[in-house]
Amino acid sequence: MKKQRPPLEWEKGELWILDQRKLPAREVWIRARSVETVAKAIESLAVRGAPLIGIAAAYGVALAAKEKGAAESILNAIERLRHTRRTGYNLFHALDCMREVVQRRRGKLAEHTLVEARRIHATESARCQTMSHHGAGLMEEGEQVLTYCNTGTLATGGIGTALGVIRTGFLEKKVSHVFVCETRPLTQGARLTLWELVQSGIPCTLICDNMVAALMATGEVQRVFVGADRIARNGDTANKIGTYMLALLAAYYEIPFHIVAPSTTIDASIKDGSEMEIEERDSKELTRSIPGLAKLQGYDVWNPAFDITPAGLIHSFVTEYGIEEPPFLESD
Ligand code: MRU
Repeated sequence: MKKQRPPLEWEKGELWILDQRKLPAREVWIRARSVETVAKAIESLAVRGAPLIGIAAAYGVALAAKEKGAAESILNAIERLRHTRRTGYNLFHALDCMREVVQRRRGKLAEHTLVEARRIHATESARCQTMSHHGAGLMEEGEQVLTYCNTGTLATGGIGTALGVIRTGFLEKKVSHVFVCETRPLTQGARLTLWELVQSGIPCTLICDNMVAALMATGEVQRVFVGADRIARNGDTANKIGTYMLALLAAYYEIPFHIVAPSTTIDASIKDGSEMEIEERDSKELTRSIPGLAKLQGYDVWNPAFDITPAGLIHSFVTEYGIEEPPFLESD
């Protein structure tokens, strides 16, 4: 399996960010020398995927420490980064770790924040590796699986969450084929997951999101693996809009539906999905790909980026600790 270049690289005091908006057509790299460049990359989805957003933000704090030096300015930079995305929990987890370093250490903050950002990056990557083995252990030989959005190297910096399980499952001959949902409106499935699977040499088929019921009815799907952006104490899970629909269909067809996510996605401070804030995005994300729609007047657009799958529809949760059951008490 070809090793993919990581989507974030720290080199000589700068952060190089692979611009995921341009994939798979072009590999364009953003050179970030300031926290503001990182914040804008997160806001614009140049960098995306819950774990990777947390890692990028951590490096953003390291850049702020290099740029600004004083603790107060770095804390302001952390505040700026906290407002870049809203639903994915890893961002807040990573920024809390960075804030602790800034508040605990006296002096040499540029060095200490970089050490912490690198630790967050390495730990998230190691979590993916462990989860991938736990998840692959759920499967029998030769299964065909369905996945949604992008949960691979591009979303995590490591082997991936759901896609990590699929990759390991493929190497162990447990996964024979992957169905990839397009994932409207920003098509992270069609653009990013397909790109990663093709590079890894894993047989895959692209489908539109509205083909899932018809596909499941054929009996061709044995399991669904998806990632998560935030998981509440009771197991209610926010993930890319459309995940809930998949979980309902999987329940109808009695297909096991698994969430794969590191403990840093679990927000044990909220009891259930009703306490989650769901990010709503610009209507242009829906309209711009359809010629003429942007000019048409007299209609509204609703564009939530995530939905919440109730815990009862989730067969199991794969974290770095193994196959887990809610309630989740704390993330580390
Ligand atoms: O809006 P995005 O592209 O950041 O959303 C990403 C997802 O919803 C992923 O499925 C989720 O972050 C899990 S990735 C490990």
